[in-house]
Parts: sequence; C-alpha cells; structure tokens
Amino acid sequence: MQFTKRTIGCGTLRPEHAGTDVVLNGWINARRDYGGITFIDVRDRDGVTQIVFDSSDDQALVERARELRSEWVLWVRGTVRLRENPNPKIPTGLVEVVVRDFGVINQAEVPPFEIVDDLQTNEELRLTHRYLDLRRPALQKNFLVRNQLYQITHRFFEQERFVEVETPILTKSTPEGARDFLVPSRINKGRFYALPQSPQLFKQLLMVAGFDRYMQIVKCFRDEDLRADRQPEFTQIDVEMSFVEQNDIIELTERFVAQVWKEVRGIDVQTPFPRMTFADAMNSYGSDKPDLRFELPLRDCSEAARTCGFPVFEETVDQGGTVKVLKVPGGTSMSRKQIDELTEHAKKYGAKGLPWLKVSDGELSGSFIKTLTVEGRDALVNASEASEGDLLLFSNGEWERACIIGGALRTEIARRTGILSNVADSYSLLWITEFPLLEFAEDEERWVARHHPFTAPMIEDIPLLTSNPKNARAIAHDLVINGYEAAGGSIRIHRNEVQQTMFGLLGFTPEDAQSKFGFLLDALKYGAPPHGGIAFGFDRLVMLLVGSDNIRDVIAFPKTTSGLSLMDGCPSEVDGRQLSDLGIATLGS
Ligand code: AMO
Repeated sequence: MQFTKRTIGCGTLRPEHAGTDVVLNGWINARRDYGGITFIDVRDRDGVTQIVFDSSDDQALVERARELRSEWVLWVRGTVRLRENPNPKIPTGLVEVVVRDFGVINQAEVPPFEIVDDLQTNEELRLTHRYLDLRRPALQKNFLVRNQLYQITHRFFEQERFVEVETPILTKSTPEGARDFLVPSRINKGRFYALPQSPQLFKQLLMVAGFDRYMQIVKCFRDEDLRADRQPEFTQIDVEMSFVEQNDIIELTERFVAQVWKEVRGIDVQTPFPRMTFADAMNSYGSDKPDLRFELPLRDCSEAARTCGFPVFEETVDQGGTVKVLKVPGGTSMSRKQIDELTEHAKKYGAKGLPWLKVSDGELSGSFIKTLTVEGRDALVNASEASEGDLLLFSNGEWERACIIGGALRTEIARRTGILSNVADSYSLLWITEFPLLEFAEDEERWVARHHPFTAPMIEDIPLLTSNPKNARAIAHDLVINGYEAAGGSIRIHRNEVQQTMFGLLGFTPEDAQSKFGFLLDALKYGAPPHGGIAFGFDRLVMLLVGSDNIRDVIAFPKTTSGLSLMDGCPSEVDGRQLSDLGIATLGS
C-alpha cells in the first residue's frame, strides 16, 4: 500500500506556516460541504487541521473528495493559508490546508458512534469498540497524562536511589483480603498459582535481601466486587524502604505527589499534608477517606439522645452505641420525596431508617418530633448546633456503623446540593493514620487484619494485642485525595516472633502459618531490617489528575463492573482439550 508520508502533525500548524507545502496523514474527523467548497477536519494524536477542497482551484479534486467519509484514513498534500473564518477553539484554528492532492490510505465502515468528546452513547457500545472510543481526543489526553505519570515516577524514584525490581506474576495463593485469581498448573496437575493481589511479600523479602529501596510499577489482580474506582486488574506504584520510620515514608510520598501535581497540573500543593487519625476522620466525617474539599461535619449527639424521649435513640445509647447528626444548612427546603430518597441511600449503608428534624420559622418539626420531651428537643438542637433553616439528619447504631451512615449522607448531600461541583477543580490531600490493626469478621468469627497481616502494631498498643485487640492501632497510613484512597501502606513487622504472634491472633495454628507464610517467617529469621512502604493506586492517581470519577476512563482496555471485557469477550470458555491438559473439569455454568 503506497501512501505519502506526513511532513507535519495535524495539531502543529500555525500562522507562521502560511505559504508552506505540507503533507498530513490522519483520520477524517468531520466534513462540511458548501457548494463548490468542501471542508474536512483531519485528526491525528496531536490535533485537528482543517483542509479545503476548492472547486475554483481544482474541480476534479472536489469531485474525488465527495466519496470521502468519516474515519477514513487519508494522506493530503497542500498549502497552508490563513483562514477567513478562524476557529479560536482549536490551536490550529487560524490556518487551513488547501488540498493539492490526496489519497485514501484506508476506508472505514460507518462507526457505531461518532468520534467526539461529548459523546452521549452508552458505555457498553464504547467498550465493545474500545479502539474507536480511544480515538476520542478526551480519552487520548488521559493516556498522555498516564504516560506522563509513568515517566515522572521512574525519574523521581531513580533520583531517590530506588531500585526497580520485577516480582513474579505467578505466585502462591495466600488468601487474606480479596479473592485470588487462580492459574492452574499443567505440569503440576491439581496445583494452582495465584496472580498477585500486590507484591507485598516479595517487596518485604527484597528488604531482607538488602535492596534497601525498592519500587515497581506493577499490575495487581483482585477478584473482588467492582465499583467506579476499582478494576480486577489495576496498577500500583509499589514502594518499600529499609531502616525507616513512618514519617520517612510520609515525607517521601509528599515530595513525590507534590512533584506530580506540579509537573502534570502546574499546581503547587502544600506540604506537609494534614494528618488525621482514623478515629477523628470517622467521628467528624464518617469515612476513613473523607473528602475535605468541603466541611459538612458530623456531630455526636449520643449524650443528648440518651434521654431525649425517642426510644430508638435511647436504646442505641443504652447498648453502648452512637447517635450522629449531620446538619444541612438551608436543608429545610428539601421535600419529603427528597428526604425519602436520602433514606433509601442511608439504608444502603446499613441504616434502618432516617430520623430527621427541621428548624423552620423558629419551630422544630420532623419524623420523630412527637416522641421527644421538651428537654430532649432542646438537647438535640444544642448538640447539633442547629439554627433557622437547618435540616438535621440522624444516624444511629454501633459507633462505626453510625459514622459510616452519616458519612454516606454527607457526600450524598454534597453531591445533590451542588457543593461537590463547586469544588470540582480543587484538591484536598490528607493522611489518615492510626488505623485499627484488626477487625472482627463476623462470618468467620475471627480477627482479620484491617490492612494486611504484616503491618506492625503501634508500640504503645502491643499490650492490647492480648488484652483488647479491638483497640490496638496499626502503624499504617493512607493517602486520601478528594475522598479517594490514593495510596496505602504501613510499617511492617520485621521480627519473626511478632509475626508469629500476629498470625496466632488471626486464628492461624503454627502449622497453618508455616504452610501459608513459611517463606516469610523463615526470611524474618535471617536478619530482617526494620522496613515499611506504601503502594499508590496508579490508575486512581491518573483519574484524579484528569478529573474523572470513572477508573475506566484511564485504563486502555478495562473490564465492566461485572468483570467482562466486552471487546474481546473474556472471560470465555476454553476447549475441552485445554481443560484436560490442565486436569480440570468444570461443573458448567
Ligand atoms: P492496598 O490494598 O491499600 O495496599 O492497595 C494500595 C492502593 O491500590 C489501589 N487499589 C486499587 N485500584 C484500583 N482497583 C482496585 N481493585 C484497587 N485496589 C487497591 C488503591 C490503594 O490505596 N501491599 C499494600 C500496600 C503496602 O502496604 O505497601 C496494598 O496493596 O489506591
């Protein structure tokens, strides 16, 4: 196939090029016919240039141009000239190319959707033809930012003397946390590899090996329920350091993030980032990843609720639970229907209902007003610091549950009232520290690690491991950006006996621990240095940098929320021969 190679890109031409001859290669973006003149926008990665076929110059050329259709691939030779009607919206908008000759390099079928940025078509169609979706300039820009982040990351960590080491993708299944994706072994029938949920243990072993500072941009795999900010395979910037304390990891992370925001967005973020303990974040914002671009704090009104007259609240407090209140200024204008919708929202987070009060025209009204004593009303209004025009939304239950429901209402109110869109262009960066080390898994009736079982407890809380494990805190840190968990990490346990105690707490017998994590326990016997680290959600960082709330916008070939790749149709069935090679029989779907 012959074609004439471009001399310049489609986003490059400016008035100073007027009078020069150029060749462009690209796709037909849009076409407009005006009698004897045809305008076509030709697009490549760098932009769009208007080309003109003018019958007063060359009638035959205009005739040939009539066959051209959207998304055909062209080469075009012509002369650059200044436009009579400039288009200030595009960088090449002052010029156009008058076509002298052109050729069709390849034709295209009519695409299933237009290749434009403000596309209204459904996402499934876009994902089925992802290669066309990716032609849209808005998506292409996201991948240029993604590329920028790869480059900055490598440069930054190289300068800080980190060593990039690749860790295995076929690993041992050590189920703790999400479910593993398994890979059957043909040579060792009946045995399975697991794809890594993260290179956690390998990076710790690299510290034992003396690498001191490790990093890797690495794919991780988790078979978990998917959401707008979660994919089954995603990328981390994985980091581990020896002979460090938590502050060293935090300080390095802040410098990295500041450099990224400066280079990609031109924004100076203030360091150090604010820090908040898990308990404070939950109490004030009902989340361990609060979006602090807006305030709307939760308040505790358990004391006021204790004898307020409303049996539901009194019972909650009697049982050691908590009553939280979210004050919505101006919220009295909300209709019953809107409050009903909020109630449904709260129920998704475990609420049984949504008790509410309104302060309007100096009067208190609301869903449980009739049950309240006079003192009870005053106490609740005081604890809520409510005034005229406020809507009060209450959540009650076990402490963490009451906080989470309040936090979910807080973000939903911010979304519905436009508070979120008002702060869309700003960033809030925040550390959450002092996470609980453990949480009780009711279904398994045992303690599980909140972060992972290799995270060290805070020194002062070590005695609690035996007396009151629930209250033991971890030396863990999450970086929260605009309400997203952008990174998470911890200081690790580096002593064999402490790691064994930890496994014991998690309900492993010594034999279990040895069979699952023996290689780690062994390594910890051979002089492991104190170490810790962090892993950034690479895709989430890109998402935040490009201002998207959908992780699929920054992953070239993502899965749907049901884990499907609509383009190639995976996961797919395999033929019987492949299965028998692997010694596997399926039960059918
Ligand atoms: P963690 O599980 O917190 O820690 O993961 C680190 C970061 O990875 C991102 N992330 C995800 N991004 C997209 N889709 C997912 N399914 C997904 N799951 C996690 C988040 C998260 O903050 N080994 C530890 C890190 C350490 O302790 O150093 C780990 O993987 O942004």
